[in-house]
Amino acid sequence: MKKELGAKGYLFPMPVAMIATYDPEGKVDVMNMAWGTLCDTNMVVCNLTSSHKTVKNMKAGSDFTIALATKPLLEVSDYFGLASGNVVKDKFERSGLHAIPSKHVKAPVIEEYPLTLECRFHKDYTDEEGNYMVYGEIVNVLADESILKEDGSIDFAAWQPILFSQIDNAYYEVGPKASAAFSAGKIYLQKKH
Ligand SMILES: Cc1cc2nc3c(=O)[nH]c(=O)nc-3n(C[C@H](O)[C@H](O)[C@H](O)COP(=O)(O)O)c2cc1C
Repeated sequence: MKKELGAKGYLFPMPVAMIATYDPEGKVDVMNMAWGTLCDTNMVVCNLTSSHKTVKNMKAGSDFTIALATKPLLEVSDYFGLASGNVVKDKFERSGLHAIPSKHVKAPVIEEYPLTLECRFHKDYTDEEGNYMVYGEIVNVLADESILKEDGSIDFAAWQPILFSQIDNAYYEVGPKASAAFSAGKIYLQKKH
């Protein structure tokens, strides 16, 4: 028996993405974003509340970087989603993390996160309810050597990314790989009904 749960946003998983921007004076801000995703092979889309300091920075000309949160950085990543740079003027300094300028885009790279997407502002859109959608072109990915295997691929066990669930407002760890994609289903291509 299935039970109807009503209209709920039960799509899982969502990312735990740290968006880093500069304000016009070069001050770093970082916010936590779960309502964002890839929308093309090298394009991200972020759904943001217009009043965020991050949005003001983007509208003032900042590009952005996106770093995926990890288990060791869970608390500080959650903090970036609790405090606003509009109110907490030393929001980034309080985190104790460190930023360096991206070589490719006008945005900071937060050094402690092991994997960072460097995104060039592509276009934005504000809907009737005032929600801000921004598209960014991924022009480079920066990865710490510590999360790379010998063949250069990403070692998920070393990286330890976390996921967000809107179902229970919680963070989850990533489990082991289940199978290769675009491959596991091939047995059905041979099957006759
Ligand atoms: C788990 C989590 C996910 C969040 N996802 C989003 C999101 O996708 N879009 C958004 O506008 N705010 C999101 N927020 C809220 C912002 O991170 C928060 O309002 C933050 O203070 C904005 O920072 P800023 O004003 O310095 O830019 C999220 C917060 C948390 C804790």
